Amino acid sequence: MKPEPWAQALATVAAAGQAAVGQAEAGPDTAKPVLIVPSPAGERFTQATAHELAGEDRLVFACGRYEGIDERVMEWAAEHFTVRPMSLGDYVLNGGEVAVLAMVEAIGRLLPGVVGNPESLVEESHSDGLLEYPVYTKPSSWRDRDVPAVLLSGNHGKIAQWRRHEQYRRTAERRPDLLEDFDAAKLPRADRTAFTDLGYDVVDGHLKRRADAVGDSA
Ligand SMILES: C[S@@+](CC[C@H](N)C(=O)[O-])C[C@H]1O[C@@H](n2cnc3c(N)ncnc32)[C@H](O)[C@@H]1O
Repeated sequence: MKPEPWAQALATVAAAGQAAVGQAEAGPDTAKPVLIVPSPAGERFTQATAHELAGEDRLVFACGRYEGIDERVMEWAAEHFTVRPMSLGDYVLNGGEVAVLAMVEAIGRLLPGVVGNPESLVEESHSDGLLEYPVYTKPSSWRDRDVPAVLLSGNHGKIAQWRRHEQYRRTAERRPDLLEDFDAAKLPRADRTAFTDLGYDVVDGHLKRRADAVGDSA
């Protein structure tokens, strides 16, 4: 995409944003709006990025199409914006709009008041670097399938432990890459044992997959 239409559009957006902030407030210390440029060649958009961007005052999104946007626009835009090329994942979409819809939803739901119960954001997948534990509803028995008995026990300590161990199991099965960054230094004994059963040892505070662990192809 050619540079000049982008420069004109972004200059208009930057001026409108400045007017919204108010000239009195605007000064050398006024933070530049963040310009997110969706691109498969950008940094990966994660839950941590969503949290970071939810704390910004102003976000601007520039959706590319075709081969993308002329690179000189990024250099020029850096005078007015903090430019962040950002990828939704390692695949190629036709345009940036779908990527931006996903980002706006992930960022927006972290803003106060958007999600009714803020507690529900705390234990979600990726909030602590792990996948979420399985969730269940009523009835406790449905089509010959029962909710795990521990969840009906009323023992909050046991329920919390079961949920943590299910997080470990799920993450090890589906996204073992997430465990590479997991801080295992202060795990209680029962949690270390859970990881041992999953084929991991704790070495220097990090999880190491045992060579003899079941499921390894080597
Ligand atoms: C066909 S893609 C261009 C791909 C580009 N030539 C490349 O290889 O890096 C057109 C537009 O779709 C959007 N897009 C495609 N894949 C994306 C992804 N994984 N994450 C974010 N945006 C993406 C970007 O806005 C991009 O400019």
